[in-house]
Amino acid sequence: MSAPRAIVTGAGRDSIGRAVADALVADGWDVVVTTRGSSVDEHAWHPLDLADRASVAAFAGWYADRADRVDLLVNSAGIHLDLGSRWTEPQLADGYEIHWRTNYLGTVDLTTALLPALLTAADATGDARVLHVVSQLHERGTVDAMLGRPVTYDSWVAYGTSKLALVHHAASLAEEHGARGLRAIPVHPGAVSTNIANRGLETRPVLRRLRNLARPLERRMLMTPEASAAHLVRLAADPEAVSGYYRKSRPAEPSAAALDELARAALDARTQEWLSAR
Ligand SMILES: NC(=O)c1ccc[n+]([C@@H]2O[C@H](COP(=O)([O-])OP(=O)(O)OC[C@H]3O[C@@H](n4cnc5c(N)ncnc54)[C@H](OP(=O)(O)O)[C@@H]3O)[C@@H](O)[C@H]2O)c1
Repeated sequence: MSAPRAIVTGAGRDSIGRAVADALVADGWDVVVTTRGSSVDEHAWHPLDLADRASVAAFAGWYADRADRVDLLVNSAGIHLDLGSRWTEPQLADGYEIHWRTNYLGTVDLTTALLPALLTAADATGDARVLHVVSQLHERGTVDAMLGRPVTYDSWVAYGTSKLALVHHAASLAEEHGARGLRAIPVHPGAVSTNIANRGLETRPVLRRLRNLARPLERRMLMTPEASAAHLVRLAADPEAVSGYYRKSRPAEPSAAALDELARAALDARTQEWLSAR
């Protein structure tokens, strides 16, 4: 038997993705990781920018040349802009709000591009998995924001909404492909000391200095990436882990908005439209 194959996105230094990749390799998985730029010496890797459709397509093409199946996709890449940009909507060049474009649309774009390889694995072994690394903060997300209705901007709501939409996406994936053996698991990884809170501070030296000062305390109060990764790796392999929302490695109830099936249908239609507009 060849080793099971995994792709882990967002494996920059000190990230949850990097710790997950390390743990999977230790467990005998054949792992490919992504970051946007800096190379990752310890792993096979390829650049990936979720906010760029050409980059997603290039990554999927590169992977298809390497292997025809993937048993596990861990979608860990993500951003949360906070301190510096809470009430000013940061848009990307294509006009989309940055959390929506990166965390939701980018992740769906990638998962869709890798679906044939996931289904090949599912057909061969009866078990392929997609882990969307979401957040307890999906509870801050709203159906209005998710469906593109006008809302007052708040980056916490925008972040939460991108994660809320991923919880819905996982449910749609499981509904459509679960019978073939694809499990889709949106998981809150815990409160973890990583680089996530550095985003948005690049041009704000005072806030950056304050954050650096608070870093030792943060490290003591939060989980390490390794401790968080242990939960995600359990979900990657545990035969008992089924599709649905998890908090660390325990099944949990997502927000009411995450269970709204009418909203899910509207989101699916909106997403499909975006995916087909090349
Ligand atoms: N840390 C927490 O407490 C916490 C809590 C709940 C949920 N989460 C979620 O956990 C996941 C991992 O975050 P983390 O805490 O490990 O943060 P992190 O250290 O900032 O890692 C995030 C990774 O995402 C990558 N990324 C960012 N924008 C990207 C883009 N446009 N395209 C491709 N990759 C991109 C980064 O790549 P580069 O290395 O190229 O910059 C980085 O490797 C995120 O989805 C986050 O929302 C984290």
